[in-house]
Amino acid sequence: MSSAPIGVFDSGVGGLTIVREIQRRLPGESVIYIGDTANCPYGNRSTTEIHQLARQMVMRLQRHGVKMVVIACNTISVNCIGELRAEFPNLSMVGTAPAVKLASSVSKSRRIGVLSTIATANSAYQAMLVEQFASDCKVVNIGTNELVPRIERGAWSTELPDVLPDVLAPFREAEVDALVLGCTHYPLLRNEISQILGPGVAVLDSGEAIARQVGRVLESNGLLNTSGEPPTYRYLTTAESPALTNVLERLGIPQTVTL
Ligand code: DGL
Repeated sequence: MSSAPIGVFDSGVGGLTIVREIQRRLPGESVIYIGDTANCPYGNRSTTEIHQLARQMVMRLQRHGVKMVVIACNTISVNCIGELRAEFPNLSMVGTAPAVKLASSVSKSRRIGVLSTIATANSAYQAMLVEQFASDCKVVNIGTNELVPRIERGAWSTELPDVLPDVLAPFREAEVDALVLGCTHYPLLRNEISQILGPGVAVLDSGEAIARQVGRVLESNGLLNTSGEPPTYRYLTTAESPALTNVLERLGIPQTVTL
């Protein structure tokens, strides 16, 4: 069992930013990744739709014999991780949530930004995070559907430079000193975002914390790969992805692409 892969999924290629952190922290572990390219984006869908699509993805990963599941998507995690955990009680799940606590801990100005999808920005879960960890901060909460489809099309240099400054304008106007990337696609744009916001703004995500949590869950369940077998990596998508190879390269992820 311990040599079985960790199953990771997202609506598309964004969750690969989490895969990279898992591979860094747990280099002996095999990973199977599935991006639901056929149904991406999830960020402007209803909670019911997000839940139904996510359930199908967990079932797919189960068919691949995974030992645990990482929901590498804020939109899914904040909207329905509770329901998914209840539906798959024998499968350990780690989810992703915007790094509001981290931003609150680094912000000196007490003005922070959260950039996510619309479904995450409007979620009760995110409101709870803000209430719990950043109640003394001014929080600029922006949900957008402008970035994910462009990332999925691989439109790095053609379309993104036009939309990114507008998307980030509210954070500049509010002079935040910490920005949470509350969508796993957005760390793919970290350099471009940092360039626009300038060196005084900490650009934060939850990838490292998730990889740490995955390690803890594997350890406490006796599921770490102790077989000595070398890890294998598979990256699957539910439809052809124009961005997959490029994103793997961008992230410096070891490649074994299976479509
Ligand atoms: N990458 C996802 C997230 O973290 C969702 C992107 C989408 O499908 O809208 O929220």
